[in-house]
Formats: sequence, C-alpha cells, structure tokens
Amino acid sequence: EKPILVGLLGLGTVGSGVVKIIENHQEKLMHQVGCPVKVKKILVRDVNKPRDVEVDPALLTTSAAEVIDDPEVDVIIEVMGGIEETKELLLRALRQGKHVVTANKDLMAVYGSELLRVAAEHHCDLFYEASVAGGIPILRSLVDGLASDRITKLMGIVNGTTNYILTNMAQNGASYEAALAEAQALGFAEADPTSDVEGLDAARKMAILARLGFSMDIDLDDVNAKGITEVTEEDLNYGKRLGYTMKLIGIAQRDGSKVEVSVQPTFLPDSHPLASVQNEYNAVYVYGEAVGETMFYGPGAGSLPTATAVVSDLVAVMKNMRLGVNGRYAVAPQYEKQLKAPTE
Ligand code: NDP
Ligand code: HSE
Repeated sequence: EKPILVGLLGLGTVGSGVVKIIENHQEKLMHQVGCPVKVKKILVRDVNKPRDVEVDPALLTTSAAEVIDDPEVDVIIEVMGGIEETKELLLRALRQGKHVVTANKDLMAVYGSELLRVAAEHHCDLFYEASVAGGIPILRSLVDGLASDRITKLMGIVNGTTNYILTNMAQNGASYEAALAEAQALGFAEADPTSDVEGLDAARKMAILARLGFSMDIDLDDVNAKGITEVTEEDLNYGKRLGYTMKLIGIAQRDGSKVEVSVQPTFLPDSHPLASVQNEYNAVYVYGEAVGETMFYGPGAGSLPTATAVVSDLVAVMKNMRLGVNGRYAVAPQYEKQLKAPTE
C-alpha cells in the first residue's frame, strides 16, 4: 500500500520524538489508518549536528523548498518554532494542498486565524494539539469531548519550564538560575526561555484555550501576563511556612460579553490539586455549566509526550485523508470557523 509521506520541519527535542514514535509505533499507526507512514525529508539548520535519534543522513536538508515543495509529501509536521518565516512556510504548504500539524503555540496564538482560514480554503487540515500542555489532549477534549457544554472558566498550569523551576526552588532549594538551566537541558524550555519565564508562553496557550473554550477571538495584547522572574526563594519559603505553594496560573473566564484572560504567579493552599502538580507537568481545569468541574493532567513538555500529541494529530489527518474529508470534518481542533460573541 502507498505510504503517507511526511515532511518534517525540525529535528530537535520534539522532532526527534516524532521520528521515534513514527518508527516505533508503525504497527499501531498502520492499524489506525491502514497504510504505512514514512518521513520523506527533514529540514534542519545543521545537517552535521549530533542527533538524539538515528536518521538516514540523506533525509536531512537545510533547504525548506526541498521539504515544502516536494510534490510527494502529503503532510508537513512543523516542530522548528519561529513565527514570521514559519508562517510563510506553512502558508506555502497549505496553498499546495498539504496538510499541516504544528506544535507551535507562538505561531498559532498570533496567526492561528489566518492559517486556519487558508487551510479551510484549500481543504487542508491544520491541527495543533501539541501547542498547549504538551502530551495532554486538552484541545481535542475542549473541541470534541466537551462540545455540548458551555464553558464558564478555564484555569491551570500550562508552562512546564516555570513549573519545573518553581518546584525545584521550593522543594530542593535550587536557585532560579540552576533550575532554569536544568529545564533547558531537559528540553522543556523554549530556544529563548524569556517567553517561558516572563509568562508569554503561558499567555499564548491560555489565548488558544480561551478561543476554543469560548468560541471567541482573543487578542493576545489583551492577555495580562506576569511571569516568575521576580519570584524569590524567600517568597516560596514564606508561603511554605503558611501552607501555600506558588504556581504560575493561567485563568480565562467570562466577564459579561467579554472573556478575561490572565497569567500570574499565585499562592495556592497546599491542599489545592494544582499545588501538587510538579516539575514539567501541567494541569488544566475546565468548568462547564453542565459537566461541572473537570481536570486534565499530564506532562506539559518534553520530547515523547509532546511528540505523542503531534503524531496523534497526524493520525487524525490520515483518517480524514482516507475519508476524503480533510478541511471539512475535523476530528481534532480545527476551530475558529465561526468565532462569535458569547450568548450571555
Ligand atoms: P528545538 O530547538 O529542540 O528544535 C528545533 C529544530 O528546528 C532543530 O532541529 C533546528 O535545527 C530546526 N530549526 C529551527 N529553526 C530552523 C530554521 N530556521 N531552519 C531550519 N531548521 C530550523 O525545539 P523544540 O523541539 O523544543 O520545539 C519545537 C517547537 O515545538 C517549538 O515551536 C516549541 O515551542 C514547540 N514545543 C516544544 C515543546 C518542548 O517540550 N520542547 C513542547 C510543546 C511544543 P538544528 O537541529 O539543525 O539546530
Ligand atoms: N517551553 C514550553 C513549556 C514547552 O515549558 O511549557 C511546552 O509548550
């Protein structure tokens, strides 16, 4: 049977995990979609760099055109990061009728609407489950699992790096700098960790969650974000003595006809479930009018957890390909077709 051919943009922390899952879970993927899946070409900056995964060197290229414009490539998986240039590459892929899977919240928070519109115009899927909360299937849960409910509030820990830093400062007496360096070495932090520690990464994820949860366009400029750069060991120890744990918490909730979204360091009582979310783990509370309170918990960053979400999106694309319904019937978060004001 003819394989589905994937063009991979990036072979770092997440890209290596994607290659491993496609190789190691081939039988499961075949079972799901009925044909083999193969990575045809991989865009990197440096073809000679040592990698965490063994790949045929002939697959590597520094030419984006060799991946994007290859007529045999069916699906582009974007795990390289970046905003402006990456957007142009993905638009080029979509305009050629290629489906796209991305883990890039920076891009989706800023240009999600435009990319999704172009995807729909070209009957392409554009899925991005990995962009929020790594391995937790939270976008799919909001869009599909809770499709019948009216969401009233979303709250959670959506950045693994800052949670790793706060956990290690509070529990192991690590310094901020040492904990950040560890989070970087483990592959949790962004290439430039400023967006992690200053709360922008969490703000972007909360904006994406809020758009899905409330079916409203959320301007990133309206998200009030404060990170953890001013949090001191003294703050954490003071809270600890009083029975409180500090977490970087994102909240999105309805306020009349608007949705307020914010991110800030927050002291939680030690008995609060979010207080026990440690290291790179994330957790998202979703409050619905009918369902009440639900909580989604799991690894929010890291190679294989994030790659699981990416490859699950690939499976969703391939299922749609078999049905011939790409860009029309979404079995994963392909939202923003009809953004509207809440009905209250
Ligand atoms: P890395 O920095 O580990 O990897 C990036 C990869 O992309 C590298 O292989 C790099 O090539 C390649 N690359 C980057 N820019 C270019 C360019 N301009 N031209 C060609 N190749 C390029 O990043 P991650 O894997 O950590 O993250 C990738 C994406 O996934 C980001 O959008 C990130 O926000 C997102 N993400 C990351 C998570 C994580 O836990 N790390 C979790 C969820 C989402 P080379 O190797 O040669 O340098
Ligand atoms: N830098 C991000 C984090 C990666 O630490 O949460 C996952 O999106």
